[in-house]
Amino acid sequence: MSTYLYQEHRQFFAQHAGGAEEAAAAELKELGAHSIQQGHLGYYFKADPEILYRIVYMTRISTRVLAPLIHFDCHSSNYLYKTAQQIDWTDFLTLTKTFAITANTADSQLRNSNYAAQILKDAIVDQFRETYGERPNVNTRFPDLQLNLYVHKNRARISVDLGGGSLHKRGYRTERVAAPMQENVAATILRLSEWDGNQPLFDPFCGSGTLLIEAAMKQTHLPAARFRSKFGFLRLPDFDPTLWNQIKTDANRAVISLPEYQISGSDIDATAIQAATTHLAMLPDGKNIHLQTQDFRSIESLNHHCIITNPPYGIRMETPQQTALLLKEFGDFLKQKCTGSTAFVYFGEPTLSKKLGLKPDQKWPLRTGGLEGILCRYPLY
Ligand SMILES: C[S@@+](CC[C@H](N)C(=O)[O-])C[C@H]1O[C@@H](n2cnc3c(N)ncnc32)[C@H](O)[C@@H]1O
Repeated sequence: MSTYLYQEHRQFFAQHAGGAEEAAAAELKELGAHSIQQGHLGYYFKADPEILYRIVYMTRISTRVLAPLIHFDCHSSNYLYKTAQQIDWTDFLTLTKTFAITANTADSQLRNSNYAAQILKDAIVDQFRETYGERPNVNTRFPDLQLNLYVHKNRARISVDLGGGSLHKRGYRTERVAAPMQENVAATILRLSEWDGNQPLFDPFCGSGTLLIEAAMKQTHLPAARFRSKFGFLRLPDFDPTLWNQIKTDANRAVISLPEYQISGSDIDATAIQAATTHLAMLPDGKNIHLQTQDFRSIESLNHHCIITNPPYGIRMETPQQTALLLKEFGDFLKQKCTGSTAFVYFGEPTLSKKLGLKPDQKWPLRTGGLEGILCRYPLY
């Protein structure tokens, strides 16, 4: 067995969404990572296996955690193929295991990410074919081994994706709704809000319940990857199953209960509330989160609350005029009916924050699924 890059340096890379830099670094530190250094949309960090398993199991903010195998200059597809063949892929795969590749190329001779992924795939399957006459299959949905190829300025890095796919897929989202918020973005918003459970939390546009669920998971210390069944680190040649079981058992035992009425939400759309109810049922104390189908205009008051929400931003049926009017009315609601509360409002489109008619005392740009969104904080007196 060769020595791979991550084994030499015990260095890994955690990716995050644009705007989540501060939250991601703070969380990595909290989980025990050290020597944290900023890279492009992510952090290099060092960790021993115990901390590493913990980070993959617990991170709410990072979207991927990668273990680099090899790093090399790469000016052509031919060179990518040859170098990838130097890895002994039987260290990670057998004929009965499946794999998939995510690739990103930027400012490089190899321009096309899909083509680069194809070359890496060919290098792997050809190596197996030469030895065994057969090859492992690709499974893009539930692979046993998820690889990541990153080529930037003609430097390539091949890594194992330790979560086995993007970590924003927690496993609780079973129902489809329009415009749901990405789980790791919701977790970042919660972290930025510094909500600590002292004031009740309410989301008046809760949709499928992402903010409520992430708040409950955080509050009860439920590991973010509790519902995931596959992890990429299981395929590492030095994977330690006893240590992993210990980490998982300890983390699951640390879960605490959620008091009733600490977290609640509502939405005008009964289908969205149905989806949120189904998602919440996955959580140990999901029944303690109160949901209601209602227009925010019919909420009597939300005094002394932490309001965290993501109002519509016009990508469903609403016209820009309807969205502007709704936001103005929501701004009035916050001013008139939410004394002593703090509102954190995430706008999928930054200019929409102006429609609320309130001045935020803090703003955080936060990108999600191609949207240049913004989180604004409003202290309400
Ligand atoms: C951007 S989505 C929220 C998505 C949510 N964060 C999630 O993760 O699923 C906005 C939500 O506002 C709801 N909505 C629109 N008008 C409303 C109103 N007048 N009162 C309450 N909810 C409303 C929509 O039904 C939709 O679910």
